[in-house]
Amino acid sequence: MVMIQIFLTVVVAGANFVRHQVEIFYKNDRSIAPKLLRLLYSDCFVTGCDASILLEGSNSERMAPQNRGLGGFVIIDKIKIVLEQRCPGVVSCADILNLATRDAVHLAGAPSYPVFTGRRDCLTSDKQTVDLPSPSISWDQAMSYFKSRGLNVLDMATLLGSHSMGRTHCSYVVDRLYSFNKTGKPSPTMNKYFLTVMAKQCPPRTRKGQTDPLVYLNPDSGSNHSFTNSFYSRTLSNKSVLEVDQQLLYNDDTKRISEEFSASFEDFRKSFALSMSKMGSINVLTKNEGEIRRDCRRRN
Ligand SMILES: *[C@@H]1O[C@H](CO)[C@@H](O)[C@H](O)[C@H]1NC(C)=O
Ligand SMILES: *[C@@H]1O[C@H](CO)[C@@H](O)[C@H](O)[C@H]1NC(C)=O
Ligand SMILES: *[C@@H]1O[C@H](CO)[C@@H](O)[C@H](O)[C@H]1NC(C)=O
Repeated sequence: MVMIQIFLTVVVAGANFVRHQVEIFYKNDRSIAPKLLRLLYSDCFVTGCDASILLEGSNSERMAPQNRGLGGFVIIDKIKIVLEQRCPGVVSCADILNLATRDAVHLAGAPSYPVFTGRRDCLTSDKQTVDLPSPSISWDQAMSYFKSRGLNVLDMATLLGSHSMGRTHCSYVVDRLYSFNKTGKPSPTMNKYFLTVMAKQCPPRTRKGQTDPLVYLNPDSGSNHSFTNSFYSRTLSNKSVLEVDQQLLYNDDTKRISEEFSASFEDFRKSFALSMSKMGSINVLTKNEGEIRRDCRRRN
């Protein structure tokens, strides 16, 4: 009993410490919220929430093309170093990633939600396992991908709302602007005025090696990176940046969900908390599985 008490106290102290570090980071760089969200998604959807995305190596998940431009590693490392000094071997990298993401998106305007700890870290990472879908896949493909991870259509419509903040590369948008689905024409689902705005920011790519600019996923949130429901209002006005986001409208279920979230930020917030908890529980390692890494970038 006493041992359990001490262990719990250490974990709670660890969670408080994570929140404190995230607050310090967030004051300097609000983009930490969308960065950690993407990092957590990239971790949990591929082999589960096991910190596989944090392992370094020429063949690791980090090296997969879909994970180009991932950020947020520095804050996880910083938190890990201090936690290992204070209470070694207690809080896994997978738990730190979940706690830090929860706290960062909370600062950006999302609700806080309980993150149960006790995840363990995996021993290996392989870029061949990375099957994260491209932002221009069809709705049916996206849906079956989420279903394969135990998430439903409401979770998918909700988690897409993560695109209420953050940035993406023009290379994920240019096909919508210039030759959607190889038709030689822009996507018919994009508002014409918004199309011209986006085309200015994302010129057609002709030569290899040309720069690939970054654009805001939600221009209403922009550099503030705030978590709001304007993502859904924009989708309803045909002003989504990514095709997968616009596709929310081309299915009765998700159109209804978008209308609901656009009308009620509270409904979106509640759903977000539930879907984030579900995502954080995908295929976690427990008990004797894996390990608690001392350094998030390499196995012990
Ligand atoms: C893209 O084109 C293919 C074949 O031309 C068609 O079957 C498919 O439905 C199109 N996809 C979209 C999203 O329009
Ligand atoms: C960012 O936030 C400030 C202050 O809250 C606001 O005045 C500004 O319009 C916001 N910018 C965007 C792009 O939302
Ligand atoms: C969005 O596009 C669809 C069809 O592409 C159209 O029916 C609808 O009226 C558009 N909505 C707005 C607000 O422009």
